[in-house]
Amino acid sequence: MFSKSFRYYKGELYCDSLPVRDIVRAVGTPVYIYSLRQALANLQRLQNAFTDLGAHIHYSAKANGNLSVLRALIEAGAGIDCVSGGEIFRALQAGAQPSQVVLAGVGKTPDELRLAVEQGVGWVNVENVAECAVLDQAAGALGRVQRVALRLNPDVSASTHRYIATGHGGAKFGLAENALRQLLDRQADYPSLRFEGIHIHIGSQLGDTTATAQAAKAALTIARAYPDIRMIDIGGGFPVAYEPGRVLPEPEDFARILTPLLQSFEVILEPGRSIIADAGVLVSTVLYRKEQGGRSFVILDTGMTELLRPALYEAHHEIVPVIVPPDDAPREAVEIVGPVCETTDALAHGRLLSPVAPGDYVAFLTAGAYGAVMASNYNARPRPPEIVVAPDGHTWRVARPRETWDDLIRGET
Ligand code: LLP
Repeated sequence: MFSKSFRYYKGELYCDSLPVRDIVRAVGTPVYIYSLRQALANLQRLQNAFTDLGAHIHYSAKANGNLSVLRALIEAGAGIDCVSGGEIFRALQAGAQPSQVVLAGVGKTPDELRLAVEQGVGWVNVENVAECAVLDQAAGALGRVQRVALRLNPDVSASTHRYIATGHGGAKFGLAENALRQLLDRQADYPSLRFEGIHIHIGSQLGDTTATAQAAKAALTIARAYPDIRMIDIGGGFPVAYEPGRVLPEPEDFARILTPLLQSFEVILEPGRSIIADAGVLVSTVLYRKEQGGRSFVILDTGMTELLRPALYEAHHEIVPVIVPPDDAPREAVEIVGPVCETTDALAHGRLLSPVAPGDYVAFLTAGAYGAVMASNYNARPRPPEIVVAPDGHTWRVARPRETWDDLIRGET
């Protein structure tokens, strides 16, 4: 959806004080454009909502790991939630203090665990009994003691798309309560680890606060029985409005239920989407129109390679013309598709759109999260550039250039 930073002004789409058209003319399409002002405002809103809890925000780099985005959020006080050695590398390159980095993930390699300890990351979120032994060994070999949060699988069903729910009993994520308690009872077996936190993340784009409250209570019950537990990491999951009219819980609603529960604990949050989704758009050019099989197709120069969410989760993104159409332009139902050789490379079905013609620019809204990071080179398509508009709203720069054909074959023999 439109956000404060991406809105129509003087007949065209703006990013803060800049016409999107000017940026697109300079760099071409497809292109991702991010408003750092919007990202920082989103971070601030979360910080405010959770001040009573003194919660610390660790931005989830998986949502958008662009160095310029990370740098801006780190400077504004965010820590970083990482899920791989690569993300730790990115976070540190962007200037994160290692102690403000959390490493999570269901399948961390011994090398990644060693890197985390070596670099001195604040917390490793562990979700496997055997992983404890690997991490303990890595820490022991380096003569370090690593703080650990054990990830609880609270067996709750989050109200979200089934592909992004993580807290149900059958999910691959987390430790069942019994396994987690057994680990806490056997702390002495892991001399180089300190079990001091419990981590829960029950899913993304959460449709209500009920399951989160249940999960937090489950974590609390365990934490109360083990006095060494002093931190609870709630994970991410705050939803964003992709389409008009959907009623979703606000960060303040989550704060209201969590604040009384978690008062006596240090609290970490790992939001990704709620910070960066509405701070970004993906802009594309209409290549062709085609009428076929009773349908009207709009064929774009972007597709599942740049925005995978519709193909993967049947996700909805608002698609708007960059230039405001005339008031009386009749809207038509169209299939909006990409150039990739896959039937699932469709970005919207039967979408009502004001008439667009080849050469027109359209923008996918709310594309700042899980857009560029999930882009691929399928069909040998170079990944698009990422542009950031500075917090002043007036200046922009290329934060990552468009890939070239040489990039596509780098290292191949
Ligand atoms: N913490 C953990 C442990 C996670 O697994 C995730 C997301 C987050 C934090 C951040 O969640 P957020 O605040 O962004 O909801 N590609 C999917 C989303 C997958 C989310 C995976 N984990 C999408 O495009 O909707």
